[in-house]
Amino acid sequence: MGSIRSREMTHRNMRDFLEVLEEKNLLRRISRPVDRLTEPAPLAKWVFHGLPPEKRFGLVFEKVKGSDIPLVTGVLGANAAVYAAALGVAPEAINDAWVKACRSPIKPKAVEQAPCQEVVIAGADVRLSYLPIPVWTPGKDKAPYLTTITLTRDHDTRIQNMGVYRTMVRDESSVVANLAPGRQGFMNAQTWIAKGKAAPIAWVIAAPPAVHLAGVANLPYGADEIEIAGGMLGEPLEMVKAKTVDLMVPARAEIIVEGEMVPGETDVEGPFGEAVGFMSPAGRRPVARITAITHRRNPIYYGYSSQMPPSESTQIQSLTNAGVLLKTLRYDLGETAVTDVFIDLHYSGGRGHAIIAVRPGLPGQALRVGRLVAALRPYSFKRLTLVDDDVDIRDSMHVDWAMNARFNPARDTVLIDEVVSGLDPGTLAASKTSKIVCDATQKGDLGAFSLPGPEVMAKALDLWQELGLPAFEVPKRTRLRVERS
Ligand SMILES: Cc1cc2nc3c(=O)[nH]c(=O)nc-3n(C[C@H](O)[C@H](O)[C@H](O)COP(=O)(O)O)c2cc1C
Repeated sequence: MGSIRSREMTHRNMRDFLEVLEEKNLLRRISRPVDRLTEPAPLAKWVFHGLPPEKRFGLVFEKVKGSDIPLVTGVLGANAAVYAAALGVAPEAINDAWVKACRSPIKPKAVEQAPCQEVVIAGADVRLSYLPIPVWTPGKDKAPYLTTITLTRDHDTRIQNMGVYRTMVRDESSVVANLAPGRQGFMNAQTWIAKGKAAPIAWVIAAPPAVHLAGVANLPYGADEIEIAGGMLGEPLEMVKAKTVDLMVPARAEIIVEGEMVPGETDVEGPFGEAVGFMSPAGRRPVARITAITHRRNPIYYGYSSQMPPSESTQIQSLTNAGVLLKTLRYDLGETAVTDVFIDLHYSGGRGHAIIAVRPGLPGQALRVGRLVAALRPYSFKRLTLVDDDVDIRDSMHVDWAMNARFNPARDTVLIDEVVSGLDPGTLAASKTSKIVCDATQKGDLGAFSLPGPEVMAKALDLWQELGLPAFEVPKRTRLRVERS
């Protein structure tokens, strides 16, 4: 792994990052007033459903009717270039950056004063409509939703957790959070509620980009995503004590919403547009009473657009967890033959298609790795494709070539049945699905590639230029093929 980035390129807060995006022409500012209940979300949908990935950009709605706070979306995951800019790395270095961050976590440091607490609104003064919280599926979602980092703490170990759990605005001072059983936010809340105590909870809005992108990392229970964000930044994240609850919150966030979940209090949450492409049914979830809203002066509000994929949600979950999974396989499970992991960007993070590159090794190695990943929690990939490391796993044309040239369906497939996957739309009542592992690595000797060797191809490229033919960038798949020809 080569050098990843210079320290100066990391972004310590969201507002500086927005300026960088603007310079790179990856941001559009909308100055016309918008209605947060109906307008920003469908515009964000057009970014993902109308534009090819390379043409997408983040959006800043500068004037949101009824609020003085601008609404930002898409600035972390419009496409891989935007995501990479958020981390201050080149797009091809994203996986390496997460592997390094996971292997060198940095504990946060406590500070007394914090920008996120320049303004404090607490107790009876709290009004959630103060924030420009949008409706993400107008006409179908039950209410506006916070779609940002949810921060909780284990009562006994005092270790905090960050995860994104959609949160429905119930009224001016309470919400219903989708803390589902099995999720770490739910497990943390239980450690308080089982003792009859109110569980502290906070929503972190427009934090430094690395904090947001670490928030969706699939880490084991007891690992704090904020340390991985520190590893990504190369320095400790500054954290400050929340004003009204027992939590430490990122000091350089734009806005923090603080609250507590009272034991036994639940309400109906949903319907809400799910990340897999359907409306989720309503269900009972814990209510949280909002105890404070704190923010920077002139803050920025941030919300992830999710729902029908592709979306910002699918992009960030896939891009973060490909690196996290690569680290798990290579360094925790000793699968050193695994050289790279790509999670398809157009479905819901760890639920879609993972493509794993492996160095040629012992017979059966690729299928074994595939079965291993199929069994790993909390991932629930439906498809796992294993290819040799001479295939560009981010290039579907190249992966398809491997599937056609090196994959024998009857011999190289493993089906894993009776798998539980709550969000799989195909499973309906039973919640059971199955998975497919495809080994598209080469078995045996297929002979040489039918391309001239590197010298002949390089000479032809010189001639191409001499002839004034249109310039192009050599695709990675072509480079890999020519190198091995
Ligand atoms: C916009 C968005 C909304 C999400 N909503 C939920 C949700 O409501 N419930 C959930 O369990 N996961 C949701 N996720 C996925 C989790 O944030 C992600 O899997 C995270 O790693 C969970 O953290 P945990 O492993 O610490 O529980 C969402 C992700 C995004 C980006």
